[in-house]
Order: sequence, then C-alpha cells, then structure tokens
Amino acid sequence: RQRPLAWAAPLGLGLAGCAGDTSILDPAGPAARDVALVWWGMLAFFTLVFVALVVLWLYTFRGGSRPERSAEDERRIGRHWILGGGILLPGVTIVVLLAWGVPAGQHMLPLPIGKPPMVIEVVGHQWWWEVRYPDAEGGEVVTANQLVMPVGEPVDFHVTGADVIHAFWIPRLGGKIDMIPGRINRIRLEAEVPGVFGAQCAEFCGAQHANMRLHVEAMPREEVEAWLAARRPEPAPTPEHAEAREHFREHCADCHRVAGVSEGDVGPDLSDIGVRATLGAGVMAMQEGAIADWLRHHQAYKPGNRMPAHDDIDAETLEAIGAWLETLQP
Ligand code: CUA
Repeated sequence: RQRPLAWAAPLGLGLAGCAGDTSILDPAGPAARDVALVWWGMLAFFTLVFVALVVLWLYTFRGGSRPERSAEDERRIGRHWILGGGILLPGVTIVVLLAWGVPAGQHMLPLPIGKPPMVIEVVGHQWWWEVRYPDAEGGEVVTANQLVMPVGEPVDFHVTGADVIHAFWIPRLGGKIDMIPGRINRIRLEAEVPGVFGAQCAEFCGAQHANMRLHVEAMPREEVEAWLAARRPEPAPTPEHAEAREHFREHCADCHRVAGVSEGDVGPDLSDIGVRATLGAGVMAMQEGAIADWLRHHQAYKPGNRMPAHDDIDAETLEAIGAWLETLQP
C-alpha cells in the first residue's frame, strides 16, 4: 500500500532541527547570525553545484559520438573541464568563503571596546557547569548549570575546564570554544533578544557528555544586577529545616557549597538550587519533590555521574535534605 507522504517524514525530521533553543539556524546575536548566513550561502551555492553536476551527468546519457572532433580536440576540452571544475571553481569558492567567513568570526573576539563588557567565568566539569560572576557588586557570585546574562550588550566569557576538555557552546548566540584545563579561553557573545537559550557541552568529555546542558537566560541589565544582588547576602537559616541542614552537613558538605552552611567545592554550588530550571545539568526538570527523587536515583538518571550513590542514607533523610534544598530560593 502506498503512503504518499512517506517521503516527507525524513524531511520534516530534518527541518525540525532548524528550530528549538539550540538551533544555529535561529540566531539571536551578531556572531551567530554571521555564521548562519555563511551556512545558508554555502547551502545555496553547493545546491547549485549539485544541480549542475546532475545535469552534466544526465547529459552523458545523450549518447552518440562527435566524429567532427579530433582526439586532440577531445583532450583540449577535457583539460578545460579539469582546469575549470577541478582547480578554478574550488579555488574561487575557498577564497570567497574565507573572505566571508573569517570576518564573521571577528564578532566573537574579545577586542578592546569603549566600555569593558561584563565578564562571566564558566568552568566545565564532568558533567556540569560552574558559572562565576567575578565583578558582581559586593563580591563574586557563584552558581551552577544556569547562566544569566544581560541582553543587548556584549559579554566576555572566560572559560576553562576543571578535569578534561569540554567546550562552551550557546548555538543561538555563537561559538563554540574549548574549555581546556590550565588555560583560559575567551569569547565574546551578545544576545540581541531576551529569552532562554540552550547551551551544550560540545567536546566529548566522557560518559555523560550528552547530559551536560546549560540553561542560559538573557534579560535586561537591571534584572541581571537584581539577580546577582539577590545572591549576595547569605540567607538566614530557616529554623524549620535545622535537622535537614545537619544531615546535609554530615553527608554533603564536603563536596557542595551552600552559602552560609558549607564550603565544599567538588560538586556544584547549591546556594540557589531551588530556582534552577533543571537538575543534573539538564537531566530532569525542577519541580516539587524532584531533588529528593534525584538524590535517591541520580545514578539511574545519569549513570556514572561523580556523585556517589546514596544507598547508605535512608529515604527519609534524603527526603528531608531535598525538601530543604528546594527552599534555597534567593
Ligand atoms: Cu563536557 Cu562534553
């Protein structure tokens, strides 16, 4: 039985890749737009080349010989095709692409400009993101797996890796750039529209490379300042969670920092985990009860992640720790 639209399925799947919060074909900043333009230009040009080749190929089926052409003529014509199609055309194509593509990368260079852009430091870990605002008023602000940036102005990202090489990539804004341990790489990106953008580690870094997603939010500068200010004062400990805090100090504090409670720096800073969009760097959506669920089953949700399984801690205790962490909302 014929299914007349069956051919459209792969096409639809292909086009579905053009939308979404990580599409390079839906640019939201100058650097990404230039790259997208080069991409469309290449697609158009190489479609032309493809069509021309198919036409030439069909032409060869025409059959028959040309008795009026001598062997010398044939050789000359062959040489012209090789010179034109094999050397001249690729040469011109490469020069044009370079002349177009190299300046497109300029936007991403952190060159000196009038007012120094905001600096955000991003550190890649297996398999999560550490995000630091070193110049925040009143002192550095640290968070994890979420990144807030001002809209309509360039931002300089200083990136590095804590363990292996990762890569920082916000497809709708431009990039990407390697995060190499022992080295700081810099890239300048700008979001021209407010909104949420997906980011993804773009260098294979181990078993959970795919589950290394970063939630990026662009908002007006004042809102970013307010967001940072809300994270400055250490929250006053809530009396109703005193017991959970004790459990946390016992089981979690060596690895995790919570402002005013613990100073661990092995795993993600949890000071504002209650307002994050996801858990486990994009593995599951944050919602009521999600943290306790994650604490119990994280090795099933994200196998091999660096946090040990908590089989030694009873469910009730994990429940209490999760309930308290959910209240950490600046
Ligand atoms: Cu980190 Cu791939």
